[in-house]
Amino acid sequence: MSFDRIVILTGAGISAESGVDTFRDRNGIWSKVDYRDVATPEGFARNPRKVHAFYNERRRRLRGIRPNAAHEALARLEAAYGGSYLLVTQNIDGLHEGAGSRRLLHMHGEVNSALCEACGKRSRWSGDMSINSQCPHCQTTGRMRVDVVWFGEMPYHMDRIEAAIATCDLFVSIGTSGNVYPAAGFVEQARLAGAHTVELNLEPSEGFSSFEEALYGRATEVVPAFVSRILAAEVDA
Ligand code: NAD
Ligand code: APR
Repeated sequence: MSFDRIVILTGAGISAESGVDTFRDRNGIWSKVDYRDVATPEGFARNPRKVHAFYNERRRRLRGIRPNAAHEALARLEAAYGGSYLLVTQNIDGLHEGAGSRRLLHMHGEVNSALCEACGKRSRWSGDMSINSQCPHCQTTGRMRVDVVWFGEMPYHMDRIEAAIATCDLFVSIGTSGNVYPAAGFVEQARLAGAHTVELNLEPSEGFSSFEEALYGRATEVVPAFVSRILAAEVDA
């Protein structure tokens, strides 16, 4: 089968073999920290110091990691498809960019981006953040937060994501447990668009039955194998 328009969704599982913790696996992030304390607007209002400390630690840990073979395989797929390819990630790490992906949307934001609640502007932010951090745009202090979409908030880029899914003929979900909406609902939208739907994951996700095809295994194995198959079909087409 060859395809014209591809949408890829990734979750924490694609970065697991780079050493990034997932959220709901055994020993996942949410088994150690209550998501209501650090990934909700209420948690930030209640204790901003705790939220800054949580994301400062994640930002520091992400500095030392590198993209893996799965990230690199997706960059190859983008190079072959160009404008007919879109990568949507739920991940806030920079590993897809590190592997060369450019046609990329971060629907949950980025840990190295900061949002000023006073002026609404964003800034790249690679160091620690605190309640005394100052906005580079409006110089207000004490209103900076990590630019990450929290539970209960709407993700970024939803119009562009849903428009791409509505016209795709291949939708591939990689390394996500299918627990969090609206990302978990994208596969049904792709099916309505008539797309071929594929799940590449360590194990069946919550939404496994919605996919027409699945390859289960570690991302660094199943993703390069799948990409090679797609690119070979392109050559034969
Ligand atoms: P939701 O209903 O989509 O997801 C709730 C999920 O939270 C559950 O499926 C479960 O996986 C998880 N959850 C519930 N209780 C939990 C617990 N005690 N510990 C760990 N995980 C738990 O969430 P929502 O409140 O409707 O918000 C959805 C919106 O929030 C979406 O727009 C999504 O993009 C955004 N979001 C962002 C983040 C983030 O950290 N960037 C996290 C989650 C959701
Ligand atoms: N290869 C492939 N898949 C893997 C690997 C691996 N090496 N390791 C783990 N996985 C799979 C797990 O089986 C699981 O299905 O990755 C998935 C990770 O699921 P979660 O930990 O729930 O992460 P994710 O789906 O990205 O969470 C969605 O929830 O808390 C929010 O904002 C957070 O974006 C995140 C969202």
